[in-house]
Amino acid sequence: MPLMTTKPMFDLAYDGGFAIGAFNVNNMELAQAILDACAKEKSPLILQISKGARKYANIRYLKAIIDAGVAEYPDLPICVHCDHGDTVDLIQHCINDGYTSVMIDGSHYDYEKNVALTKEATDLAHANGVVVEAELGMLGGIEEDVVGLDAHEYEKNIEKFLTDPKQAVDFAKRTGIDSLAVAIGTSHGAFKFKHEAKLAFNRIEEIMKTCPGLPLVMHGSSSVPQEFIDLVNKYGGNMPNAKGVPEDQINMAVSKYGVCKVNIDTDLRLAMTAKIREVFMTKPAEFDPRNYLGPAREAITKMVQRKLHVLNSAGKADAINKQWEKLGKPLPKFYAGKK
Ligand code: G3H
Ligand code: 13P
Ligand code: ZN
Repeated sequence: MPLMTTKPMFDLAYDGGFAIGAFNVNNMELAQAILDACAKEKSPLILQISKGARKYANIRYLKAIIDAGVAEYPDLPICVHCDHGDTVDLIQHCINDGYTSVMIDGSHYDYEKNVALTKEATDLAHANGVVVEAELGMLGGIEEDVVGLDAHEYEKNIEKFLTDPKQAVDFAKRTGIDSLAVAIGTSHGAFKFKHEAKLAFNRIEEIMKTCPGLPLVMHGSSSVPQEFIDLVNKYGGNMPNAKGVPEDQINMAVSKYGVCKVNIDTDLRLAMTAKIREVFMTKPAEFDPRNYLGPAREAITKMVQRKLHVLNSAGKADAINKQWEKLGKPLPKFYAGKK
């Protein structure tokens, strides 16, 4: 049952030239597609659940689907993570639900409030054997339950929102977090840039220097491939000017600068939407959900496989499993006594 925390994953990713893909799950098809892709590519993975996903699917259903997936793929290193947790109460629920990792996101608060919230959540999670990601600096893009800034305003004033490398040291020391989500020019959603997409690689480098050993996380890392935008628009959609982070820049952040976790949601949504639109437009008499959700699931699988190569994580499952064994197979308290 290689359900695990991110610890064995980041131990190897930190200076291994690869990153762990963290993919958002909202329903059965997404979970199946992500797991299928990782099994095909022998890649470790993080399944992440946002507050919106908990609400949409009802966490009981979603967790049962994920537990079934973990049982279905006993050799796959899997971490179940809370994406953008915003309160200690939510973190407690995630711990009770058997998550192995949580994010507490106080990045929209002032610094001292972010420190206090993150410290409280971290103490609670650590007491339960769960690892913690927190965020410093601010991202652009506005999602359902994630506080952010207008992506284009963000792009104009980027310097002001990037993670401060000196503050990052203080933040990590005072909170005890296990990984840090950094603001380096990415935004959430499909409309990240008006102008040329450019990540602040020098910031990653500086933070790696001031915080040696601390795994860094990149949110808002979808690439919004033009061919998928073209498909969406061809089949009746309307997504003009969508733009993401080019895949070569994501690969660079991972392979050259050492980012350990890369969050991808939008690209999976795009693959799914493009395929469903295609079926509806080309087969207007189709009304069996299996005949559009099935092809959509296959499209998501292919998209995730493509991402695993961008992140260089294909083929890394065995090494992560070995590292997990070496660490003594640590799991949250929730799993004590369970097989
Ligand atoms: O960063 C946010 C993720 O894309 C989740 O989005 O809150 O709409 O589920 P969501
Ligand atoms: P994208 O919107 O770029 O896929 O980012 C997802 C994310 O950061 C989830 O936390
Ligand atoms: Zn995010």
